[in-house]
Amino acid sequence: MSKLPNVGTTIFTVMSALAAQHKAINLSQGFPDFDCSEILKQLVNEAMEQGHNQYAPMPGIMPLREAIAEKISNLYGQNVNPDTEITITPGGTYAIFTAIATCISAGDEVIIFEPAYDSYIPNVLVNGGVPVLIPLSYPDYHIDWQLVRSRITPRTKMIMLNTPHNPTGSILTEADIQELEKLVTEFNILILSDEVYEHLVYDGAKHLSILRYPALFRNSFVTFSFGKVFHITGWKMGYCVAPAHLMQEYRKVHQYLCFSVNTPMQYGITGFLKTPEHYLSLPAFFQQKRDHFLQLMADSRFTPLQSCGSYFQLMRYDRISDEGDKDFTIRITKEFGVASIPVSAFYQEGKDDHVVRFCFAKRTETLEKAVERLRKI
Ligand SMILES: Cc1ncc(COP(=O)(O)O)c(C=O)c1O
Repeated sequence: MSKLPNVGTTIFTVMSALAAQHKAINLSQGFPDFDCSEILKQLVNEAMEQGHNQYAPMPGIMPLREAIAEKISNLYGQNVNPDTEITITPGGTYAIFTAIATCISAGDEVIIFEPAYDSYIPNVLVNGGVPVLIPLSYPDYHIDWQLVRSRITPRTKMIMLNTPHNPTGSILTEADIQELEKLVTEFNILILSDEVYEHLVYDGAKHLSILRYPALFRNSFVTFSFGKVFHITGWKMGYCVAPAHLMQEYRKVHQYLCFSVNTPMQYGITGFLKTPEHYLSLPAFFQQKRDHFLQLMADSRFTPLQSCGSYFQLMRYDRISDEGDKDFTIRITKEFGVASIPVSAFYQEGKDDHVVRFCFAKRTETLEKAVERLRKI
């Protein structure tokens, strides 16, 4: 018996294992190789010392929810009620799963754009839903809204968005938001917006959070990850924001899935959020990494695609080889000692545009060493 017969080990685990086996530099999985802030560690330690070591309240500690509401109000101009509209979760992936489990019943259709973060499709399937897969348009990976409209049926329950986008680094534009508003109003579809890279937007662009748009927020679950933005992926801390009528249902699922999230980390992050510079400095910090990586790669035989956000940079390799992208990434890991991710792994049917994903959320010396090897290909 299997509810997910086609699911095997994820490509991230496979590539990280291969990287370890061949002592390769790992630019595959999306996590930083530098440590988090000392201030943040100290705040968590203080919380433990002060005895904040028992269960937190089910929706999360109130001071953290209040700090998040304040950040949302400052950045996105939306007044969110911390009591009824924010729930702290053990990471972004959990926040996404819980939103799907809350709303999706057998036969409900969920629109998912491909390439897609790997948890989305299994999350829908395990809840009895039907993923409706729509390709983003290569090479800038924009949404073809005509195509979306043509795939809507009376069973369409939800549309999943991810901005900034993993693996492509594309971001939603105002034009996308307008199209989305038309569809959601016309067909009354729920939105699940995965915004784990909210602060990682480059070249002066604005993160168009769904939270900015009251008409959209009314129908939405918006999910975030502290792990991704504060270099603490191993802590698995995140949150979900939704209007009270949806959050009420979300919490019914959450309270029997994990009930509550670890307490000292919640206090630590609350203290950290009191200094807005801790998140306002992130776009410049990561853009410097992206730009440095691109500059180093300029005289390699890879061709960069545009990365507007996230911590990923896609590269075409058609000047190097016509191998399939999986074979190519495995070969360069073994022969040149740099691990990346084949973008075909983010498509159910393995669509292969001969593009690979590099994670640039790494120390300068890691990027420099990796590029020294990539230039030899
Ligand atoms: C698009 C996207 N959503 C969600 C997550 C998961 O976040 P977390 O580690 O907080 O579960 C990731 C992590 O890779 C991601 O890339």
